[in-house]
Amino acid sequence: MAVASAAFSSTQHEVLPMDPDETGNHKNLLIVFHTQGVKNERMAQAVFEGATDDSIGGVFVRMRRALDADAEDLLWADGVIFGTPENFGYMSGALKDFFDRTFYRCEGKTEGLPIAIFIGCGNDGTGALNAIRRITPGYRFREVAEPVIVRGELDEVGLDACRELGMTLAAGLEMGLF
Ligand SMILES: Cc1cc2nc3c(=O)[nH]c(=O)nc-3n(C[C@H](O)[C@H](O)[C@H](O)COP(=O)(O)O)c2cc1C
Repeated sequence: MAVASAAFSSTQHEVLPMDPDETGNHKNLLIVFHTQGVKNERMAQAVFEGATDDSIGGVFVRMRRALDADAEDLLWADGVIFGTPENFGYMSGALKDFFDRTFYRCEGKTEGLPIAIFIGCGNDGTGALNAIRRITPGYRFREVAEPVIVRGELDEVGLDACRELGMTLAAGLEMGLF
C-alpha cells in the first residue's frame, strides 16, 4: 500500500511515498495541466487519484499547473501526463507557454519519455490534440496511452477515464513497461 504525504495548494499537488523502497528505485510521474474554469482541473484531479491509487507503490506523483511548471519538473519526470482545454482549435496558451519555456532547457534530455494527454473541451478537441502531437516529436516524447478527450459535460464516465489514464501511466512506470 502506498503511504503518502501530500502537499496541496490550489496550484500544485504532490504525493511522495514516505518510504518508497529506500533504494531510490522509484519513478516520477508529472501531471501538467491548464484550466480556465473547473473542467480540466477536475480531470487532472481524477488523473492524480488514479496515479496515486493504493495499488501502486514507488511512484512519486507531482501535479502542476502549466503556468507554474518549469523545466526542472520536466527533467524530474520519468513520465508526463499533459492536460488542456481546447481554445480556438489549439491547446491552451498556458500549455503552449510551458512548451515554449522548457524546450531548449530540455532539448536532448527527454528522448523516449512516455507521455499521455487529456483534453476537456467544448465539442471537438482534435485541434488541441494535434497541436500537442505536433510538438512532442521535438522533445522525442513517446505517447504510450490513448488520449482522453471529454467533450461537453464532464460526468463520471469521463472522470473514470481520467482515473484510468493516471493509473495506467503510474502502473506502467512501476512495472517498467515504458
Ligand atoms: C476562448 C475559448 C476558445 C475555445 N475554443 C474551443 C475550441 O476550439 N474547441 C472546443 O471544443 N472547445 C473550445 N472552447 C471550450 C473549452 O475548451 C471548454 O469550455 C473547456 O471545457 C474549458 O475547460 P476549463 O473549464 O478547464 O477551462 C473554447 C473556450 C474558450 C474560452
